[in-house]
Formats: sequence, C-alpha cells, structure tokens
Amino acid sequence: MEKLSFVGKSLPRKDAEIKATGKALYSADLDFPGMLHAAAVRNPRPRIKINGVSDAAAKKIAGYRALVTYKDLRGPNKWPLVDTDYPFLPEGEARFEGETVALVVADSHRAARAAAAAVEIKYKELPFETDPLKSLEKGAVKLYGQDNVFSKFFIKKGDARKALAEAAYTVEGEFTTNYQVHAYLETQGAIAVPQPDGGLVVYTTTQCPFYVLDAVAAACGLPYNKVKIIQTVTGGGFGGKEDVPALVASHAALCALKTGRPVRLIYDRTEDFRSMSKRHPSWSRVTYGADKNGRITSCVVKYVLDAGAYSTLSPIVLWRGTVHAAGPYEIDNVLIETYAAATNKVPAGAFRGFGQPQISFAQESLIDELAAKAGRDPMDFRLHNLLDPGDITATGQELTSSCGLRELVEAVREKSGWDKWAENGFRRVEGNKARGLGVSAAYYGVGLGAKGRYLDRAGALVNIYKDASVTVNVGNTEMGQGALTVLAQIAAETLNAPYGSVRVEEVDSTKVPDSGPTVASRTTLMSGNAIIEAAKPIRDNLFKTALDMLKAKGADIAGMMEASEGVFSIADHKVTFGEVVKECWNRRLKMCEEGWYAAPRTTYDMKDGQGDAYVTYSYSADVAEVEVDLETGVLRVVKLWGAFDVGKIINPRLAEGQAQGGMLQGMSWAVYENLVYRNGIMANPNFTDYVIATTADKPEYDITFIEKDYEDGPYKAKGMGEVPLIGVAAAVANAVKAASGARVTSVPLLPEKIWKGLEERKAAGGKK
Ligand code: MTE
Ligand code: MOS
Repeated sequence: MEKLSFVGKSLPRKDAEIKATGKALYSADLDFPGMLHAAAVRNPRPRIKINGVSDAAAKKIAGYRALVTYKDLRGPNKWPLVDTDYPFLPEGEARFEGETVALVVADSHRAARAAAAAVEIKYKELPFETDPLKSLEKGAVKLYGQDNVFSKFFIKKGDARKALAEAAYTVEGEFTTNYQVHAYLETQGAIAVPQPDGGLVVYTTTQCPFYVLDAVAAACGLPYNKVKIIQTVTGGGFGGKEDVPALVASHAALCALKTGRPVRLIYDRTEDFRSMSKRHPSWSRVTYGADKNGRITSCVVKYVLDAGAYSTLSPIVLWRGTVHAAGPYEIDNVLIETYAAATNKVPAGAFRGFGQPQISFAQESLIDELAAKAGRDPMDFRLHNLLDPGDITATGQELTSSCGLRELVEAVREKSGWDKWAENGFRRVEGNKARGLGVSAAYYGVGLGAKGRYLDRAGALVNIYKDASVTVNVGNTEMGQGALTVLAQIAAETLNAPYGSVRVEEVDSTKVPDSGPTVASRTTLMSGNAIIEAAKPIRDNLFKTALDMLKAKGADIAGMMEASEGVFSIADHKVTFGEVVKECWNRRLKMCEEGWYAAPRTTYDMKDGQGDAYVTYSYSADVAEVEVDLETGVLRVVKLWGAFDVGKIINPRLAEGQAQGGMLQGMSWAVYENLVYRNGIMANPNFTDYVIATTADKPEYDITFIEKDYEDGPYKAKGMGEVPLIGVAAAVANAVKAASGARVTSVPLLPEKIWKGLEERKAAGGKK
C-alpha cells in the first residue's frame, strides 16, 4: 500500500473562510469604473411571432442608454451548443414564456429594470404545445423539424420482446416525474468589460467557462484569443450553470460592445426560474420479465423527456438516461427507445444525474414489483441480478474495472436492519402513522462517455514560485463541490508540497486549454489526472535534487528516501519542500509544467446502442425509512442509508458532504418540488410557492463508502458528485409502498397522490 500524506484526509476546504465570512466576491459583487447595467425584456406568452420591439417609452426613463436586439449580433444568430437551434436573441419567433427577446442598458440596475418593463414587444400569439406526449403525436403543432423530436436513442440487445413473452413473471408500469429547479443560492449573472484592443473580458458564475468562451466569441464575432473568460466564485451550479451562463454572458457581451462600457447583467430569482434550465420532466413505460428462478431476462423501456423550447443539452441528458435505463443489472435482452420532445416551455438541461434519476425512479420502483411477483425479498432479488465485476451491461460493456455494487447493497442491508424489518413486511404501524423501508440500487457512468467523447479531456498548469508556494490552474470549476480542495490535495500529494502551500485558481480561459465542461462528476478524474501529468516532471526534479541535498548532508543514499508531509528524508537526515524548491531554482530547473489528460477511447454504436458507453462507473445503494400519515398521506423521510463506491475517497469529509447534499437534493425532488405550468405560463417561479427541502426536513443519514480502486483514476478515484442523488426517489417510493400499500408512480410523491393510493386500497378492502 502506497503511503499517502494528503490524499484520503479530511483537510480543510480551501474556500471555507471566504465563503463562511462573506468575503467571497460573486459576480454581483464586482464593480468596474463606468459600469452600466443590463436587464432582459422577456416574452410574456408561451409562443409569439415578434412583429417589432419598441423602446419609445423606455427612452423617457432617466439613465436609459440602449436597446440591444438580435440586430446587434456580430456573428451568426446561433448559440453553438450540441445543436444550434437556440438563437442568441430571437428574430421572428419566441418560443417560451420568459425567453429573452431583447436587452436594455441603463446607468443603474433599477433604471434598467424600469426600462425593460417599459419596452414594448409587438406580437401575435401562435399556437403552442406544452405536453411532450402530445407534441410527439402526428398532427401536433410543429415546433422542431418534422416530428418535434430533438433527439432519440435506441438500445437493442438480444430479443427483449420474445424473452418477455417467455418470462415466468412480468411487470409493467408508467411513471412520470416533474421538473426540478437547481435552487443555487446565487442567480445567474455576468459582467462584460470591453478591452482597448476591441476584445472582451467576461466575469461570470459558471460551471463551464469554455462554453461561455464559445458563445461570446460567436455572438461578438471575435477570435477566441481576444475573449477572456474568468469564472467568479460560483454559488452553486448542480448542472444549472452548465450551458445557460453562456447565453447570459453573451447578452452582457453584446451590451458591452454596443455601449463601449462594462456592463453587468444579474438575474433576479423570478426571471432565473422562468428562463434558466431545469431538470427535465419525464414520462416512461417500463416492462421487466423474469424467469422462474428470479433472474431478470428482459427489459423494455420507452422514455420521453420534456425538453422545452430548444434542444440545448437534451441529447446528452437523454443519452445518459438511455444507457442506464435498464438499471444496474445483468439482463440478456434489452430494448430501449428514448425521445427528447419539443414543447413551448423553458428549455430543460443538465441537473445532477443527467436524466438518470428520472428513469431510475421508474425502473427501481418496478424492480420491487417484479421481486414481489417472483415472491422474493427486494434486497435478495437485487443481489441475485445486480452487476458484478466481469458482468455485461445493457450496452454490452464488460465491467472490467472497479465495481463494488454487491458490497454496497449488503452494507445498506446490514446497517438498516433490513432483515429485522422483513419479519413485519417492512412495515411498522403506530396509531395513524405507518413506517416503511425501501431499497434501490444504481450505477453511474463517470465522465461524458461515448456521446461526449470529443470533450472528455482536460489541461492543467502547475507552477512553483521561488518561495515554494504553488499555483495550479485547471479548466474545471469549483461550484461548492470541493474541487479546489480535492485538486490541491492531488497536487500536494504528487509534488510532496505542504497542502497549505498549494493554491488552485478559479478558471481563467487564457491560462489553460479547453478542458470541457465541469459536469458528469468528471473533475476529480480529468483535472486530477491532468495535474498529476503536469506535476510529474517537476516531481522528478524535486526528488533528484532532494536526494543530492540529503547526500550532501551525509545521508547514506543507498537507504530509501522518504517523501511525506512536505519533507524529504533518509533516516534522520531531512530537507523540507521549501529548501528543495530553492535549490531547484538555484540550479535553474524548470518548476512550471503543463499537463493534459484525455479519457481512454470508448467504442459505442449509436445504431443499436451497443459498446463501451463509459470508461468506468460509480455505484450506489440506498435504503429509505419513511413515515406516512395514513389519514392524510403526508410523507416524511425519517432516515436514509446510502452506500457508495466512487473509487478512492480523496477527502472523506467533503465526500460525506457530497453524499448528504446529494441525498437531500434527491429527497427534495422526490417529495416536495413541484413546478407548475398553467397554459404555458409558469405559475410558481419563486421560493414562496416552489417548495424545496430545507435543513428542517433533513432526514437522519447513514453513509458508507466502499472504495474500489480505479486504476486509471488519480490516486484511484472515480467521481462522486452526482451518484448520491440518483437512487433516493425510488428508495423513498418503495418505502412508501411498504408503509402504506400505495404505489405512487409520479414524482413528487405529494400527500394527495399517496392519499389517493390509500383510498384506493381501502376501497379494495386492503388493510389500513
Ligand atoms: N455540490 C455543490 N455543493 N454544488 C454544486 O453545484 N454540483 C453537482 C455535484 N455536487 C454541485 C455539487 C453536480 S451536478 C456535479 S456534475 C458535480 O458536483 C461536479 O463536480 P465534480 O466534477 O467535481 O464531481
Ligand atoms: Mo452536473 S448535472 O453533471 O453539472
């Protein structure tokens, strides 16, 4: 076993102090001389034909400066994303309520808001569609292409229909899930500052500075080297700051170019709700078949995502959902078809788990039903079917590396007292309240996988100054998950530099090459490996020099040199990292290097969905204990047990935080969050009417990590940011079923849905 000094320890967060004391500077805190303020003019209706935009009334507002429309673009009106259907600013048609139609610039934030309200959009209403299933029907209003399908995928393995016909037990169900709002504390915002040479510097809250670079350069018709993107301290992302900050920043940039002044554009909460991305609502029909021995033989899935008005990241989200739709089981016959449908609602995008939590809720709910039909304990049934090392996934991928799912399921079984609960059918009743226990399992492909293969690379720059302080530049961002800390630990470990001397910078697009987006739990793996790559040659110089210095001190260099905690030693001769760096500088050795890591090739055929989808997978098992009020259907999650295999844990305390946060966010989506549209208008775009779980709702947590080494990961780590969210909804729904007998097939599991299930059971003569 390698002895590690910094990796695997709960070292303090690098950004703890500035965030806890309020010293951190977010986008809205930055000011520049001569800075103006922008505000968006938004589409008031679900779908309109734009006949003109008039600022006649806005001109009367003191401090009003300019109106910015698509006419001010200096490049093609296509925001470059996966597809290019989303214009930077609409020309003929606006397609969802809240879409930015134009921008105004004024001397103050307040004046800009007033001016935006005074701008008149002249429009005619167009027919619209808000239901994704109706949008896919023949004869639907045409919103995109011939069929309103932004993207579709298939997986075909074996003969699933035949296997279903031959199965001893089959189950089928339809499931729906609603939106989830990212609810980051900091709303979207950007500041664009014109440069003397005609270029721009853009400061913005974002997960993906390089997506911002692509967009700003395109909108402004500037070469990349005249645009600099600086990520400001980012107050949460959760996928919500993957694509859309590029749009916000492009709008700020256009305003800055038009006025020649720095321009700040900060969203308020309501407009953030109405116009920024969300977790996709979903509909799915899932069918499973099992043989008489309880082996799953067949899985058939149809899965539809409500993508909203533009394609944005739907292809990526849908593909991930597709790959994982059969669940973490070895099944010989699989048939999956999936669609992202256009509707006249806010474009949905990335949210922690990327299309997986939705389908996991559906398929893991049904696995319980299948186990019941087969007369098996749900835990045993999963253990009987789950993916083990060497097994083959739905896409035909052999799991050759790190896979601890079996141990995870066994861990939550043991810790939750599952077998004791089994004696009472996983149900305990006291008065009007019933408690129940439910389980789920999940797997999660780390990184972008075959669909985003060309983006799956990262760069790093490591620089050691003369005073032995270390700066690391990377292309992936800190958004609360702890990247600055984890990456500093990796750099410190590789260089044998004291942890306190290493500083990882927020991203500056001019300092590192395009490192892809900070999504898909890829940062530790991708940027971590890039840092190791950069640090290796420096490490060689440091270690050789240290050995020379120890020899000069009289050490017997036949003995092994130890490098630990920032000190190099042989027996009782020692030199510190600082002394070694100084000597390296004296010798004019290179103390600055760059690194590059590209994910290994994945082979995947989009036609039948067969091949290696992801380089590796993380795994989870969850057990939920819930309490259901049998009179009202009110649900409370009492305790969540989570077990995770995310490879080596770089920082246990941060990992625990990610697990708790992810589980709470998953529970919040499962139980509370309910964004409502009425006739194409968002009805509750604020935190008064849109309810999320708070610390008051927090369940008790019991978290276990089982570290299965991933050989190609930095210090054998995989990725952990998203896994803890994925399985929570299904575990809760399964626990609700155990407690109340009600199988709720729709997230959120609102009291009225549970109550309806209770009433149906009573009517059918079921037990109370
Ligand atoms: N944790 C915090 N505190 N804030 C966030 O915005 N985003 C999540 C997760 N954990 C997020 C978070 C999402 S969606 C992802 S993809 C991962 O962190 C990204 O981080 P990683 O690549 O470092 O794992
Ligand atoms: Mo996370 S949804 O991959 O940003």
